Amino acid sequence: MRIILLAALCFILQQATSARNVNNENHPDSVYVFTYTSGSPTDGIKMAYSIDCRTWIPIGPNHSFVKSDFGSWGSNKRMFTPSVLYDNGKWYAVWNVNDEVYQFATTESNNFWVWKPQDYPYLNNNENFLRPCLSKQADKFIVRYQTKSGNNYEICSNDFHQWSSPQQISSEEYNHSNKRKDVTVSGNKLSGEIHRVPYPLVEELVYKVNDASLRNTLYNESCSEDAARFRGVKSLKARLSLTGESKPISTDLIGIFFEDINYSADGGLYAELIQNRDFEYNNLDRGEWNPKSFWELKGEGASWEISTDTPIHANNSHYAVLKSKKGASLTNNGFDGIVVKQGDTYDLSLFAKSMNGKKQMITVMLKDGDKTLASTTIKVSSVSWKQYKSILTPTADAEKASLTIALKGEGDIGLDFISLFPQKTFKNRHNGLRADLAQTLADIKPRFVRFPGGCVSHGNGLENMYRWIETIGPLWERKSQSNIWGYHQSKGLGFYEYFQFCEDIGAEPLPVLPAGVCCQNSSRGGHGQQGGLPMNEMDDYAQELMNLIDWANGDPKTSHYAKLRAEAGHPLPFNLKYIGVGNEDLISDVFVERFNYLNKKIKARYPNIQVVGTVGPFFEGSDYEYGWSLARKENIDIVDEHYYVNPGWYIHSQNYYDVYDRKGTKVYLGEWASRGNRLENALAEALHITNLERNGDVVVMSSYAPLLAKHGHTQWNPDLIYFNNTDVFPTVNYYVQQLCGNNIGSRYVYGDIAVKATVEGRNGNMTEVNNESASLRVRSSVVIDEESNDMIIKLVNITPFDTPIELQLDIQSYQPKATVNVLSGKPSDSDIKPAISSLMLKSGTVYTAPAYSFSVIRLKRI
Ligand code: AHR
Repeated sequence: MRIILLAALCFILQQATSARNVNNENHPDSVYVFTYTSGSPTDGIKMAYSIDCRTWIPIGPNHSFVKSDFGSWGSNKRMFTPSVLYDNGKWYAVWNVNDEVYQFATTESNNFWVWKPQDYPYLNNNENFLRPCLSKQADKFIVRYQTKSGNNYEICSNDFHQWSSPQQISSEEYNHSNKRKDVTVSGNKLSGEIHRVPYPLVEELVYKVNDASLRNTLYNESCSEDAARFRGVKSLKARLSLTGESKPISTDLIGIFFEDINYSADGGLYAELIQNRDFEYNNLDRGEWNPKSFWELKGEGASWEISTDTPIHANNSHYAVLKSKKGASLTNNGFDGIVVKQGDTYDLSLFAKSMNGKKQMITVMLKDGDKTLASTTIKVSSVSWKQYKSILTPTADAEKASLTIALKGEGDIGLDFISLFPQKTFKNRHNGLRADLAQTLADIKPRFVRFPGGCVSHGNGLENMYRWIETIGPLWERKSQSNIWGYHQSKGLGFYEYFQFCEDIGAEPLPVLPAGVCCQNSSRGGHGQQGGLPMNEMDDYAQELMNLIDWANGDPKTSHYAKLRAEAGHPLPFNLKYIGVGNEDLISDVFVERFNYLNKKIKARYPNIQVVGTVGPFFEGSDYEYGWSLARKENIDIVDEHYYVNPGWYIHSQNYYDVYDRKGTKVYLGEWASRGNRLENALAEALHITNLERNGDVVVMSSYAPLLAKHGHTQWNPDLIYFNNTDVFPTVNYYVQQLCGNNIGSRYVYGDIAVKATVEGRNGNMTEVNNESASLRVRSSVVIDEESNDMIIKLVNITPFDTPIELQLDIQSYQPKATVNVLSGKPSDSDIKPAISSLMLKSGTVYTAPAYSFSVIRLKRI
């Protein structure tokens, strides 16, 4: 069925294409178009056209040409009563985003297809903006609008960018400019505006909408249609041949992107076992949370309160005051229980002070139910804060242990920063990472680590932007903050720990810092639109970014920031090479102004640092187009592309990077995935990596996203690695990343894989034919790793056929015995791992790539 649909769509497209290419005299020079919305505020601007203003033909008809980006994710992004102007071959649109804010939305387009990233100018009269009417008079854009209070206003602009202050107008003046009409489109009476435009413009849009719909059909293809797709095909075979030519490619192609999403940091990679150790949880983290969350008071007549009076540090302003006449205790169950191992050692530390000047004795117990696994007693006599430390060694294993701090008798005691930390961490680092999770990451052999986000970087509102300087130094002086994904970031895993981890696994650090703007989907501090730091604060902010470079690379003898690094335990530089500025931001004027400011400052002072810019969250569209044109204009070193798409996109976009300009800005594919944790998804990702390798002269880095997800705490699916408190569950997608990370090359060897299908002819004879679907799904990439001089062949087979592939290789200088790693199974499998074997190779050897498989063959140099 799908195949027939596809054929029909191809036919329609061909017709549309040939119609476009013929100067058809039956076509009018110009037509009417009607711009309207369906009535649903999340549904954007649509278009219909008409020869005579009587019969209207919708384009799409479900296609929205531009939707509002104002507001936080989802249904808050609303567009009401857009007013559209067609002037001098260009389109302009304004609309109201809701009836609360003193702002409105603007955008423009040269073709009604790609729209400029939206701007949301402020109105300085504390009135909202409803039912706008946009017009142009004597080179001036004029918007007349109404307000909730019943007033009418006019604003003007010469450039559709800077707007005048609102001037009150009469309702007659407003009504005079109101061009809204009711028109019936496909039986629905709709309100909108009518314009007269050249017919080719409409024809182009019809073509583009059809093309988008055809592409969508292709992108939604899945292996479940393979029986129909390969009907009549008896078998496949292929031949891989190399031309002998090669080119250098990036050796940093496979990396990881760590973001604190899905409890990846606290409760995840960061090995701290106590939740809310510093009593800093609050309702910004999550509505129902407060400084007492995850602590339980026990004891007759006991009470406790949260105080902010003379805290340990201003950044850690809350602490607990435990009061009792008879003995009281506070218990913490960690992150869904504390996992401990018999005989392992755990660092206990806490700050305490006597609130009434009397000596107090407290017992700290690690308990499994009623059973005490380890305990220690602490004498607190000081009225000022003092840190107490001890080592707890549990007498038994437990998965749901808890930590109790009990007053031995009467008391009134201040407690803060209560930490229980395993001594066994990854590489035994103090304040380190959960060893099993970190090892799973290290096993990918990532060439770089991007951190700390994602959306976590640019944050939920300006106040929530990630400020690296707040994440280094003594733990209790770091500034914890809410996490855009709806929980708390303790910052115990801060920039020092990120950089240390990179060094421990031999990966380049790639910190990503906000471009002085917050996430365009923020729910706080300005209705999600991209608020920016005031320009007069940008100099300080640029300095903050450059201080990071200094902190990472500077000389402790001459640099204050490098001295902080040395004092923390790392006198040698971290050799930072990259700095990300911005994360899939809206390429709005607010963003561009700030990004350019930062990029110029950083490049002027640190010309050798590679600045990584951003081009939005999709593989096409306005942020992508405008982001790339900014990159070209400003000669940005690298830009960060993101796309989360279905497997079909990867199959039908294999030349995506082949057409990229080889000079100038390079690509970091910073977030990508194929929306699933089944073998089918993993194979599409493997296929994409073969295409990335071929384009490794342009695409210099890539990282799957998101990386980690804790069972029961995920905000985003799929992810690369799932885990709970005791176990790690790498996905099938993980094994693709791991196979590729362990088999990176430094030269791409040009070659060709020719695929033939055997089909039964009408006469019953078997014939060999080309089969486009098979050719798209049996793919290869050959690279040389110049460090080891090994040759690595990657073969992807996303078909139901075991496919013999003749390897026409010049391999005299390689050992005949090759290592083969194969990931194979059914497309729906999600619980499989690569199998390792060996293969005796000579030129012309036939290797059979199993149905639905990814094979990595590694030949060792003699
Ligand atoms: O990877 C999850 C999120 O996806 C990232 O935080 C953001 O950059 C993207 O939208």
